[in-house]
Amino acid sequence: MPFPSNPNAAATVPAGIAIENVCLQRGDSRVFDGLSLRLSEPRIGLIGDNGSGKTSLFRLICALDVPQAGLVTLVGGNKPGRVGMLFQNPDDQIIFPTVQEELALGLQPQGWSRREAAARARTFLAERGLSAWATRAISTLSQGQRQHVCWLALLIASPDILLLDEPFASLDLPGQTLLHADMARVSQQVIVSTHVLSHVRDFARVIWLDHGRVRGDGPGREVCAAYEADVSVRAAAGQSAGVAVHA
Ligand SMILES: Nc1ncnc2c1ncn2[C@@H]1O[C@H](COP(=O)(O)OP(=O)(O)O)[C@@H](O)[C@H]1O
Ligand SMILES: [Mg+2]
Repeated sequence: MPFPSNPNAAATVPAGIAIENVCLQRGDSRVFDGLSLRLSEPRIGLIGDNGSGKTSLFRLICALDVPQAGLVTLVGGNKPGRVGMLFQNPDDQIIFPTVQEELALGLQPQGWSRREAAARARTFLAERGLSAWATRAISTLSQGQRQHVCWLALLIASPDILLLDEPFASLDLPGQTLLHADMARVSQQVIVSTHVLSHVRDFARVIWLDHGRVRGDGPGREVCAAYEADVSVRAAAGQSAGVAVHA
């Protein structure tokens, strides 16, 4: 099995995703036109400009969107609940009014009663020094704190594959450090999109998406460096174009 066993997971199954010749149209945009990828490494970074297709790829993997052509297959079967996504905007994920209820939601598919799930959620929070959050109204938490609740909800639900969509964007530095450490520790497959390249530079695999196509795919150091070099070239070209326009 490619992953160490996860004591939190109901069943440990090999993770891995096959994207085969996928075409995706969202509104007027042709986001992917024959995209193929095999995603089987335990940690994968996803980088690229805004609009390059990172969120769309995640939405395909967790079946929020269905491709017009091609296939998205999970190793071990496309059963519901095998993939969990940390949304860029926590308010797209949160359903319940309190932290405890939100965390308990992820336990009910594992067969816990409402009461048991609530008790486990409280214990889970206590283990992290967050007992005070249990009955806290989520609406009174900051955006970064709500993001943290979403991450805890994913951890407690423990799906086989974790998709994190720009998770560092609204976190303070301690929150980023905590998430970085949590990400390193979990035994599930983690795919993370980010503009904060330091969080994925050491990954064995990073994929650079550019207008829905794979522009780079390889060791994090190489792919991040190639993306940064491209951004510098474009910035310089933009600046010289700006000078020319204003000359
Ligand atoms: N809800 C939507 N309706 C129509 N087009 C969308 C929608 N969301 C994203 N797109 C388009 O899909 C493309 C990819 O976007 P997205 O996957 O969100 O990129 P990223 O996450 O890399 O910023 C962009 O051209 C974007 O304009
Ligand atoms: Mg996005």
